[in-house]
Amino acid sequence: MTEVLRSAITGVGAYLPPDVVTNEALSKIVDTTDEWITERTGIRRRHRAADDQAVSDLAVEAARKALEAAGKTPADVDLIVVATTTADLTFPATAAIVQRKLGCPVGIAFDVQAVCSGFVYALTVADGFVARGNSQCCLVIGAETMTRLMDWTDRGTCVLFGDGAGAVVLEPVAGQGANTDKGLISFALRCDGTKQDLLYVDGGPSTTGTVGKLRMAGNQVFKHAVINISESIEAALEKAGLTIADVDWFIPHQANQRILHGVANRLGLDENKVIQTVADHANTSAASIPLAFSAAVDDGRIKPGDLLLMEAMGGGLTWGACLVRL
Ligand code: UT7
Repeated sequence: MTEVLRSAITGVGAYLPPDVVTNEALSKIVDTTDEWITERTGIRRRHRAADDQAVSDLAVEAARKALEAAGKTPADVDLIVVATTTADLTFPATAAIVQRKLGCPVGIAFDVQAVCSGFVYALTVADGFVARGNSQCCLVIGAETMTRLMDWTDRGTCVLFGDGAGAVVLEPVAGQGANTDKGLISFALRCDGTKQDLLYVDGGPSTTGTVGKLRMAGNQVFKHAVINISESIEAALEKAGLTIADVDWFIPHQANQRILHGVANRLGLDENKVIQTVADHANTSAASIPLAFSAAVDDGRIKPGDLLLMEAMGGGLTWGACLVRL
């Protein structure tokens, strides 16, 4: 059989800013209660970046931990892909700022903007370099300061989001092209631009000239989520010649506990296989999957050889799923 290169995840790391905001604290700012937030979303608390912390600072902390876990140094990195919707600046890309702050050599660095689906999108984009032998050591980082996009008078959104960053190191590994090989095995990505109005930020450099605030028709996004995420998961499994029973760990985007359970039930996935961090992190957009991934590697649940199913959905609307053998 011919040798096939795969993008293997060789290290994972995460960073959460120290400031924790409880539901109780938010109930003093908007008309909400801990009971409503917990029942409708599963969220109990979220982290918030300090005023002097840029999203690149969060990304750098997560990247350092991922590099250490992979036994690599910044000098080894030749590609940085940052998934973020809350960039430090309109340009340069946050990835370029991360490259400078980490002290990586001149290489490739750019951002991917797919909002909450950003990490899954970024992983597949990076795979295009790594699995073709064009990167030997790649950082894929999901980093967000979503609290900066909140309208703090809108209780329907401001209670849902948090800040944080997670990162993985990708390295090319030779395999047989089988679904038992290490690395990214398959993916299915989607975007339906006609659903823009359901979830967006009402500002930008070429329209209002402002940053804007997040707007969401929450219950319509919710309805879209369970059905479409399930379809993309089934497509990724089919491409890989695998079934849901083969999945060791489900690492979903952490937007709402009811969505996680809805998708797991629809697919017939054992709930004990679902990694859940939404209670402590809230929705950290592109950072949520690597944050959850890192938590489950650190506590020993996820082990080398496990088959991981990742999925997300966000503004665009974008959504998608991927399968990775660790
Ligand atoms: O990561 C990107 C993808 N985003 C998502 O996946 C989010 C998807 N959506 C959701 O998670 C849920 O739709 C929400 C958590 C946003 C909302 O839950 P819901 O069960 O769909 O509630 P709803 O929007 O239908 O609102 C129900 C009621 C409304 O009051 P009335 O009109 O029935 O009197 C809202 O005004 O709940 C009210 N409400 C709140 N009440 C207390 C909305 N937000 C709050 C709040 N506290 N924070």
